[in-house]
Amino acid sequence: MNGRMTLLPLLLFIAAQDKFPDVPAFYVRQAEQTLGRMTVDEKLTYIGGEDSMFIRAIPRLGLPRIKMSDGPVGVRTWGSAPAYPAGTCLASTFDPELVQQFGFSIARDARARGVNIWLAPGVNLARITQNGRNFEYEGEDPYLTARNAVTIIKAVQWQEVSTTVKHFAANDHENDRNSDSSEVDERTLREIYLRPFEAAIREGMSGAAMCGYNKVNGIYCSENEWLLRKVLRQDWGYEGVMMSDWGAAHSTLNDFQNGLDLEMPDAAFMTPAKLKPLLASGQITEAQLDEKVRRILQLIYRFHWTERPQEDPSIPRDNPASDKVALQIAREGTVLLKNDGVLPLDKTRVHKIVVLGPGNRVINGGGSSTTHPFHSVSIDEGIKQIGGDGVQVAYYPVIGKINEAFEFKGYENGLKAEYFAGKKLEGAPLQTRQETGIDYEWGGNPPGPGVPGIDFSTRWTGSFRAPADGIFVFAARSDDGIRIWIDGNKVLDSWIDRGAVTDTFRLTLKKGQLYGLKVEFYQGGGDAVAKFGMLPVEQLLNQSLPTAELKAADAVVVSVGFDEVSESEGMDRPYSLPTEQVLLIQNAIKLNPRTIVVNHSGAAIDTKGWLDHTPAFIQAWYPGQSGNQALAEILFGDVNPSGKLVTTFPVDIKGTYYESAYPPKAGKIVYREGLFMGYRWFDKNRVTPRFAFGSGLSYTTFKLSGLKLSTLSNGVEATTTITNTGSRAGTEVIQLYAGYDKSRVARAARELKGYRRVELAPGESKTVSIPLEQHALDYWDTPTQKWVTERGNVTVWLGTSSRDLALHKTYTVR
Ligand code: BGC
Repeated sequence: MNGRMTLLPLLLFIAAQDKFPDVPAFYVRQAEQTLGRMTVDEKLTYIGGEDSMFIRAIPRLGLPRIKMSDGPVGVRTWGSAPAYPAGTCLASTFDPELVQQFGFSIARDARARGVNIWLAPGVNLARITQNGRNFEYEGEDPYLTARNAVTIIKAVQWQEVSTTVKHFAANDHENDRNSDSSEVDERTLREIYLRPFEAAIREGMSGAAMCGYNKVNGIYCSENEWLLRKVLRQDWGYEGVMMSDWGAAHSTLNDFQNGLDLEMPDAAFMTPAKLKPLLASGQITEAQLDEKVRRILQLIYRFHWTERPQEDPSIPRDNPASDKVALQIAREGTVLLKNDGVLPLDKTRVHKIVVLGPGNRVINGGGSSTTHPFHSVSIDEGIKQIGGDGVQVAYYPVIGKINEAFEFKGYENGLKAEYFAGKKLEGAPLQTRQETGIDYEWGGNPPGPGVPGIDFSTRWTGSFRAPADGIFVFAARSDDGIRIWIDGNKVLDSWIDRGAVTDTFRLTLKKGQLYGLKVEFYQGGGDAVAKFGMLPVEQLLNQSLPTAELKAADAVVVSVGFDEVSESEGMDRPYSLPTEQVLLIQNAIKLNPRTIVVNHSGAAIDTKGWLDHTPAFIQAWYPGQSGNQALAEILFGDVNPSGKLVTTFPVDIKGTYYESAYPPKAGKIVYREGLFMGYRWFDKNRVTPRFAFGSGLSYTTFKLSGLKLSTLSNGVEATTTITNTGSRAGTEVIQLYAGYDKSRVARAARELKGYRRVELAPGESKTVSIPLEQHALDYWDTPTQKWVTERGNVTVWLGTSSRDLALHKTYTVR
């Protein structure tokens, strides 16, 4: 475990602190006393934040100003801070001890900055690959996410920093998150999407929780009585603070009555001016107000924030200990998905490495989690550092810019543009004019006099002459729908409501030939973007491919994927890599067969068209400040990879629920796949994924043998022997999946219910036991509003991925 100390005794100690005491705890009494001394005005102002990241101070009552900071991949709000790898990378470690170290480390980063409330962990699930925030979360499995959430919360709160589990609930995509409704049946919510929240609240006892921006079944989370009062308070007994996401509140009365305690970043609806008349008329009561204030006060006293400064100046802000944890997460969470034998690189033979691509110094994704570190390691620096003096590294960004396509103006006499009211290009155009090209970002502004800024459509017609022979890449970027015909053939049809997305396609053109063009576009609300154009494939690669160096290199590393700008909170991302990156991979492989592709994303990407020819492929998620050192260690075999994928990669998105589930239609995102989310869907529909949930390669090989099930008081325990059958030391993650052979309700074939990392020397064997708690297999019976333990035969599978399950055995639940 690379010199890390074992913290299991501490885990047990923390587990023992699990329950609220039967007699009112000290902080309950303290809160009650302070509440009794507060005026109604003080209480009314207390339930709205101030200065974006604070709960206000009340010096008269000894209440300090409470400082918050965003997460989940750093304590990012107050200047530079240690930047950890993505949540998906942390989850891919399947290492509870390391997850706990992450929690301790984060808490110390928070204490170094005087932060009381850390706005994390994020436990929404990677239902669809396109969600722009997948990287902040922990993948697609509720069990794994729940285990990690509990561990992180306990470790952070142990050091008297409150966590804020977010975003409650079903906030599983980003475009139009402020208006879309997640339409999910109750059983699916309870068994899949609410599970990590339930664990975070009941087991982790998170001090705070944050509601999502979205609606659940038609009602905004911030005022959703079922979510906040019934599930959270009544069913789970939550006593902590429920805060709004920033600007996610929508009404005064509903927010107040249905369970919001704290409106952030400040009061817009729960203001004293708006609440006072409701109090006076009796529509709301002071007792209800007291409940909210009481919860905030209890949080303050629970963590002793009135008794000592929260800032601990003895902890360095740029803490080397945090850096070690960040590095270790990347070592264990980076996933090797394909290796035709090119890896590991042999330092005695590999002397020249070329690094290409835009991802050389990508650290994290974008939005409120983006953490700016004090220092970071790029891929070429990591390789230099680990490769040593014998290895020369050259870096070429070769970043093709698809946006250059939109500068295309080569139309014969321009284009005829007709602007219509409404989305359907109907009636007489409101305006007709000649335009030189299509390159518009109107925002909400009218595209021309007499045309509305929203809810309009446009048709461009004309022709262009091909400037040269060869392959041209066509690009269209639109918010919302666009469809295109060339010479009467429909070549693109993206006629849907969506945020700005770039679609590309390729055509071979003949120099001088005239091609007819028709482009139709509509704007259905929000921003308006319409762009179209083309450019020769070679131009897209910037003509800067270092051909000679690539041919002469002993290995090539191509870094592709997304970054802070292209995968971010507030927007979803395309499933495919940008065209220019696919071309970059294809060209690099043509020039050098020892090419390794390293991808940055929070979930699956389209691997069609390049993966089959790629000798090695690594999913690096987002690596954090030191993750590229870990990457280099993996490339050279100093670290044997052990990360396991936490989101399924399909062969083709077509026909999977990922495709039909997105984008939302008419403001609704319907969870039609129900319980069969992620790998459950692939199992049920017998679709083979490209890379299965739980998969990941090592430089050695393992064998599982002999499965024994023994009965425990609350379930069973699976015992197996694992052997390292290769010649290198390595670590494997044994995964336990379980499912009923027959059930009276629809169920997944099997679900992850346990796991264990095992480190083994070459030839070494270890016997490992993994418990399976029977209640983990209970189903939610909506009519009776109860969890039900079903009788019947349960099969337990053990293996090294959701699709590589060497052993299984059945037991009977009586
Ligand atoms: C995000 C939250 C974040 C908050 C404060 C919101 O936009 O959704 O996750 O904690 O901003 O920065």
